[in-house]
Amino acid sequence: MSAHRTNKRLTVPTIRRMKGGDKIVSLTAYSAWMARLIDSVTDVLIVGDSMAMVEYGMSSTLGLPLDTVIGHCAAVDRVRQRPLLVCDLPFASFERSPQQAYESAARVIAEGGADAVKLECTEAMAETVAFLVQRGIPVMSHIGLMPQHVNAQGGFRRQGKGKTASSELVKQAKMMAHAGAFSLLLEGIYSETADLVTKSVTVPTIGIGASLGCDGQVLVTEDILGLTGDDIPGFARIYQDLKPGIEEAAARFADDVREGLFPQDS
Ligand code: KIV
Repeated sequence: MSAHRTNKRLTVPTIRRMKGGDKIVSLTAYSAWMARLIDSVTDVLIVGDSMAMVEYGMSSTLGLPLDTVIGHCAAVDRVRQRPLLVCDLPFASFERSPQQAYESAARVIAEGGADAVKLECTEAMAETVAFLVQRGIPVMSHIGLMPQHVNAQGGFRRQGKGKTASSELVKQAKMMAHAGAFSLLLEGIYSETADLVTKSVTVPTIGIGASLGCDGQVLVTEDILGLTGDDIPGFARIYQDLKPGIEEAAARFADDVREGLFPQDS
């Protein structure tokens, strides 16, 4: 049975088997209320470190503490029913050594309730991915535009332009799949390169600003709801603009309070 026709909790092997089949639908969730609303239509919920910018108003993802990510992940896990739950390991919580990554990932799973962790992966992370996978921690490898590498990549720039950069990304993707990653997240990658990567690996690829040819797509939920304002990336699409409705509700409440119309005497 295809994944979108079952109400059963999706697992890492289920998502792994969706390679080349039904498209994988993924959205970010940072809170219990949002997770409840999007649970039934998503295959993979990602507690992304984009929460640093979206929820906490930071200018990058670099300052987000592991404890904060775990708290949000646990909130989502308390209410989610069907989707696989993948949680980001934030900057500086895994890069030092495979052991450090194991300790952080184990907390994300034990305290946050995640089924798998997502790591931004240069080639140097292949050893870490293998270390985690061999110890029972499923890994989604995030390659391409890596927000935690904003300084090294010189900003939030699309990756994989031209033959050399494209071959590099294909090589990196193969290394991650070989190390045992159950899926790859391709962010901000030129579409021809994203297509090449997708064809080169036997694990599913989930794209964001990558290509229609990926095995699935993810977007930041606040982007599709119009809540990120001018910060919305060019590739995202607003499916419902909630901003005017929220602003209007708050303004009506403010008017009622100021005019003595709320609360009503009982
Ligand atoms: O942090 C994030 O929201 C992400 C998305 C690409 C899923 O990594």
